[in-house]
Amino acid sequence: MREGPATVVHRQDYAAPAYWIRKVELCFDLDPVKTIVSSKLHIERNPAAEPQPLKLHGEDITVLRVMAAGESVSFRHEDKLLVIDNPPAGEQFVLEIRNTCSPEKNTQLSGLYTSGGGFFTQCEAEGFRRITYFLDRPDVMAVYTVTLRADKKKYPVLLSNGNLVEQGELDGGRHFAVWHDPFPKPSYLFALVAADLVCREQKIRTRAGKEHLLQVFVRRGDLGKTEHAMASLVASVVWDEARFGLPLDLERFMIVAVEDFNMGAMENKGLNIFNTKFVLASPATATDVDFAGIESVVGHEYFHNWTGNRITCRDWFQLSLKEGLTVFRDQEFSMDMAGSPSARAVKRIEDVRALRASQFPEDAGAMAHPVRPDSYAAIDNFYTATVYEKGSEVVRMMQTLVGREGFERGITLYFERHDGQAVTCDDFAQAIADANPGSELATRLETFKRWYSQAGTPRLKARGVYDAEARRYTLTLTQSALPSPGQPTKQPFVIPVLAALLGRDGRTLAAERLLVLDSAEQSFVFEDVDAEPVPSLLRGFSAPVILDDGLGDAELLTLLAHDSDAFNRWEAGQRLALARLLAAVEQAAPVTLDEAFVEAMRTVLRDPALDPAFKELALTLPSEGYVAEQLATFDPQRIHAVREHFREQLASTLHADWAEAFEANLVHEGYAPTPSQAGRRALANLALAMLCLHAVRSGNPVWPGRAYQRVKDASNMTDRIGALAALVHSHSELAEPALERFHAIAGGEPLVVDKWFALQAQASEPVGAGHGRSFARAKALLKHPDFSLKNPNRARSLIFQLCMNNPAAFHRADAAGYVFWAERLLEIDPINPQLAARLARVMDRWTALAEPYRSAAREALARVAAKPDLSDDVREVLGRALE
Ligand code: PHE
Ligand code: ZN
Repeated sequence: MREGPATVVHRQDYAAPAYWIRKVELCFDLDPVKTIVSSKLHIERNPAAEPQPLKLHGEDITVLRVMAAGESVSFRHEDKLLVIDNPPAGEQFVLEIRNTCSPEKNTQLSGLYTSGGGFFTQCEAEGFRRITYFLDRPDVMAVYTVTLRADKKKYPVLLSNGNLVEQGELDGGRHFAVWHDPFPKPSYLFALVAADLVCREQKIRTRAGKEHLLQVFVRRGDLGKTEHAMASLVASVVWDEARFGLPLDLERFMIVAVEDFNMGAMENKGLNIFNTKFVLASPATATDVDFAGIESVVGHEYFHNWTGNRITCRDWFQLSLKEGLTVFRDQEFSMDMAGSPSARAVKRIEDVRALRASQFPEDAGAMAHPVRPDSYAAIDNFYTATVYEKGSEVVRMMQTLVGREGFERGITLYFERHDGQAVTCDDFAQAIADANPGSELATRLETFKRWYSQAGTPRLKARGVYDAEARRYTLTLTQSALPSPGQPTKQPFVIPVLAALLGRDGRTLAAERLLVLDSAEQSFVFEDVDAEPVPSLLRGFSAPVILDDGLGDAELLTLLAHDSDAFNRWEAGQRLALARLLAAVEQAAPVTLDEAFVEAMRTVLRDPALDPAFKELALTLPSEGYVAEQLATFDPQRIHAVREHFREQLASTLHADWAEAFEANLVHEGYAPTPSQAGRRALANLALAMLCLHAVRSGNPVWPGRAYQRVKDASNMTDRIGALAALVHSHSELAEPALERFHAIAGGEPLVVDKWFALQAQASEPVGAGHGRSFARAKALLKHPDFSLKNPNRARSLIFQLCMNNPAAFHRADAAGYVFWAERLLEIDPINPQLAARLARVMDRWTALAEPYRSAAREALARVAAKPDLSDDVREVLGRALE
């Protein structure tokens, strides 16, 4: 932590390092209070750079001694740098450093820290400098040999990257292990673990016939919850080789689970470190969503082994080079794993829904930034939905423009050119284009790359004219983009629009084709169109834009009933709902849902040909956040009241259908987290929620009683928490005893206790009588003995869920929600600035709030920003919000 303004780093200032580090030998004498780190760095001057002092990064560590070429050398400290003004002459020399750090005091969870009595590291993005002095930047790649020494009893397992080359006993009950990683890597991919762990192992053979060892390490007692993570890892290895020809390149690949972790997981070379949330699962402790999350995160980290590790980022502005691409790869993996076309579509809908829930607001708020940002104060603030999810959409558009095979050729060329290097987003796009000369991408590559440089979500307008005589349909596409911070005007994007035409009766009038818009306005002609069509545009969400196609109810109903593109079918239903929500928000009096809409929903619910997972998605109203996003200024209470009222209407008018859907979708087979079982459980849970909602309003005890029974007897967590949620959100009298029961069943299992907190933090705020109850409950939970601010999962489960996912509880006319936010932020910041900065982001969209919320939010922001000793991380977020 520092005082005074943080330094801002600019992408344009990139310069290659003046020195390279080619080889590193590290030795750790591990001790929670004071760990001694000895490092031997093999340094080489960069002949292309001006002669200059050697400046090594270092933060919160204490230097004991520095030797260069075997002699002690003088050094000085400058900011967070250790400067050697006169390094030895010659092209190469060896620098030896000895320093200490204190893992136990490291509550930031960046660098070397302790968790549950073990040692763990997290080095991305700039954690390695909190371990030892180094050129801690991703373009400096070295080969590491690491020796770990620690007490054998307390830390029987000693791990680092690569291969184990030696291990043995030491005096005083200590032991050691030596690991060597043959692949040059940037420091952010370094990792070590020393802890009392057990592991699940499996051998796997790659196509070349080589055998590899896969291991998943967890705390004693958690071994029974590692089966799914291991299965996901095996599937990832097989998939990457089959789809992209990228085999496992290490003899041993390890995953380690840790309870205290800032993010989801980390792709350290050969030694992935995971938040327990993305490793541990059993039917009794994890939901279908958790199982799917594990599959995708295990895949994601494994896929980084090529996209991120073998080819890494030149500088942190290029973060999306690895993250956007790797998210794209994990999304494709999950889709391929899902199997059936309808399960694939469900995954795509979920991904788009997540993009709209997190990235669209980011792009419209104070923190808006391009996929490749231009500047930052704290790089940790740029692990964002834009870099990850929008970055993935940019890669997906490339695949759409060159075709799936063309994209695979592009990936092959990318590795031919850049394996072992630290490169840029430009290098990636160039490789995909060069592998596909003459393609829709190659012919407009420079324009396409604006997706990397321009922030903001483009708006796409589509209007069609049908000429019956000529049997011709002319579709005119126009695009525009609003200003974003630092970017007052935008140039046109390349927008791939997958389009088909349907008749009013649902038959296909024109098969799907790819329209590529690359200027402000363009018209596309469809010949031989039999009748006035309904256009189905942006199929599969072919570009991350906001589409205005001007379609009315009748056309949307046609698409909902007949579109062969499942994404657009879902989208049509959502838009029908959204139009009604928006209209009702404008009105003072309660709005009754029209027959046509209710009937359309009933038809979806009853349609035997539709996948239950799809039905669940289609029957879920757009979120309060998504509704808010459509409005220039929004009143969170009004949106909540309207949406709740609609839910009640759907609950009562479709009552019999919900009851039938519930029974029909009960899963009687043994639990398996497959898309088909998960879809049925999801729909049954939605049905149960609707049935409880209606029952509580009408004073009927039957369904709440059944839900309560289910909380007690459910054979799996998905059903148990689904039933609990139905009781909590409907404000049933049984909610309280059910929560108690759930807590008892949890038996202190941390990930289950997290769910218990999260559900209460998200509890729907009553409209009218009882308003404020959910906020009060969440606030009271701060005092619960199970609560702790130090564990990020726990802090997120209560505080973040309330502030981010419960708008009606959070945005209060008396500003108590904002006071709560400010207090927690100031408590968390000294402990863990990265986590605090994430919480600060809650206020991203405060300028769009209606009064009195807007003024109250500004006041809370200003009050926090006035504190003198905020972290750089938090200061950057608040600074942007108040700009
Ligand atoms: N690189 C990790 C991933 O996305 C995320 C991460 C970033 C983890 C920073 C920890 C710290 O796979
Ligand atoms: Zn990643």
